[in-house]
Amino acid sequence: MGLRRPLILLGPPGAGKGTQAKRLAKRYAVPHLSTGDMLRDAIAHGTDLGKKAQPIMERGELVPDALVLALVEERLGRPDAAKGFIFDGFPRTIAQAESLSRILGSRGFGKPLAIEFRVDQERLLRRLAGRWTCSIGGETYNIYERPPKTPGVCDLDGGKLIQRPDDRPEVVRERLAAYERQTAPLVDYYKRSDALETVDGMAPVDEVQRVLLEIAKRTGASDGHL
Ligand code: AP5
Repeated sequence: MGLRRPLILLGPPGAGKGTQAKRLAKRYAVPHLSTGDMLRDAIAHGTDLGKKAQPIMERGELVPDALVLALVEERLGRPDAAKGFIFDGFPRTIAQAESLSRILGSRGFGKPLAIEFRVDQERLLRRLAGRWTCSIGGETYNIYERPPKTPGVCDLDGGKLIQRPDDRPEVVRERLAAYERQTAPLVDYYKRSDALETVDGMAPVDEVQRVLLEIAKRTGASDGHL
């Protein structure tokens, strides 16, 4: 089982992109490419990129396209990317989408399929306020909707659960505004090229996953053995 077209999970902060991207990546045995995770990793390692990105992310704004694109190009150049990939949180601007299309074309990948997650704002705020992430494996929990069995501890690997600094309410407001301003126009961008599907992100996690797998199969983005 595998992917014929790269999948782009598109949606506002807290829509469930990361939760589903991890599951799909496992299912299709392809890399999960999260620019947010890559930037947080750069910050944790104190790299030059991390130093530039940190204050921007703390304000809830988007990191400049050139910095993000350099990260993505480097990642797509690694051997495991040849099997396809799940994009989570990228592209986030029209310029990033245009560059991605050029990069994919030049490397012989199929046309990507964007899947928009629809979730109302009240639910997004609650999800982000309740999100806790495993400091070892990155599994995501939610104290309101998907709590871990033991508070503060990952069910999968026993890692300590931590909260993201940009999940503070004042930063979340700016992240949502940045989404509307800079990322929401991608919905029309992919619709125009007939490469957009939509999923109800308010449904339970397993149901969202089921619909995503069905979409991938129906559109020929996956090889159909699911
Ligand atoms: P990034 O890390 O990409 O964050 P985001 O897009 O804001 O998305 P989130 O990770 O907050 O949400 P998600 O949709 O993945 O939801 P999740 O699955 O965790 O970006 C962070 C920052 O990095 C940006 O602000 C920007 O500064 C920078 N950046 C990153 N990429 C960039 C780019 N390309 N260009 C420029 N700058 C960039 O779920 C949320 C919660 O809900 C969890 O608790 C989860 O358990 C729960 N949940 C999920 N699904 C369900 C469900 N179906 N039912 C119930 N609960 C659910």
